[in-house]
Amino acid sequence: MPPKVLTITNQKGGTGKTTLTALLGHALVARGYNVLLMDLDPQSHLSSFFLKITDLENVRDGIIEMAQGVKFVIRKVDTSTRGRMGIIPSGLNYIVNTYRGMIPSWDPYAINSRIQMEPAINRDYNFILCDTPPELFPPTIWGLYAADYVLVPSNLEELSLAGVKLLVKDILPDVIMKSKKELKILGIIVINVTRKVSGNTLNSVDHAFTKFLHQLPPTVRERFYKKPFFNTIIYRYEELKDLMYRPRRWELPLNRVMERNNELRQNIDTLAREVLERVENFEGLT
Ligand SMILES: Nc1ncnc2c1ncn2[C@@H]1O[C@H](COP(=O)(O)OP(=O)(O)O)[C@@H](O)[C@H]1O
Ligand SMILES: [Mg+2]
Repeated sequence: MPPKVLTITNQKGGTGKTTLTALLGHALVARGYNVLLMDLDPQSHLSSFFLKITDLENVRDGIIEMAQGVKFVIRKVDTSTRGRMGIIPSGLNYIVNTYRGMIPSWDPYAINSRIQMEPAINRDYNFILCDTPPELFPPTIWGLYAADYVLVPSNLEELSLAGVKLLVKDILPDVIMKSKKELKILGIIVINVTRKVSGNTLNSVDHAFTKFLHQLPPTVRERFYKKPFFNTIIYRYEELKDLMYRPRRWELPLNRVMERNNELRQNIDTLAREVLERVENFEGLT
């Protein structure tokens, strides 16, 4: 069975995309799946969880090369996952390349075609998790067109939620139309909120969003999971705060951070279970 591609997106920055990608990756590995992470963000945050910054300064066989159709390398990360997790990193040099107009933008299906063609990906991985940049430029579009499923993380801050609406109303309909896949929206994941958040707040956000979805054409609505918001909420944890600024973070793999906090580990495992359940529900329908 070809790997399922899950693209984590929200064009708003700081909504938890990178954190969610890394955590979900580890939780799926812990459940016995092989996971390939693809860092589509030239900011390289996800890559820096696993690879030294000095190794990211000049990547010549990472995600951009993959999109260009030339040689790329899957780095096996985190020995404790026994090779079950790999990453195609993003390099810091890609920002300069973007400035110089060297990011190939002519083929929005670049990553999708490459995933389908590569035996090393199709043979070895069950899930591909794509982390995307907080803007809509070619790497984000590659991730959206490669996706079987889209996951949208958001905190409860107003701008983040407004960003989700924008994505759903103005961007996803176009992507759904142009994607060569039967793209589905797996749901919105509320992340980085305190445990004090009230059930009422969550219900009213859910209610308002469901109402908003009903105003959209059925062709868009039917691509959404029947419950747009995940039941699982990822709470705010001290050890996840500013994770991407932690010095030498690649030396303390995230799964060890998770192992030290039972509550966090269980929280993420519950999310992974819900992701699998939602995917199965969709697959059962086809
Ligand atoms: N569950 C969480 N608990 C604590 N901090 C979090 C949590 N999720 C995200 N953060 C923090 O919020 C900030 C933005 O998260 P990040 O994953 O980088 O978002 P994005 O990739 O969408 O820009 C980071 O500083 C991150 O450490
Ligand atoms: Mg990010």
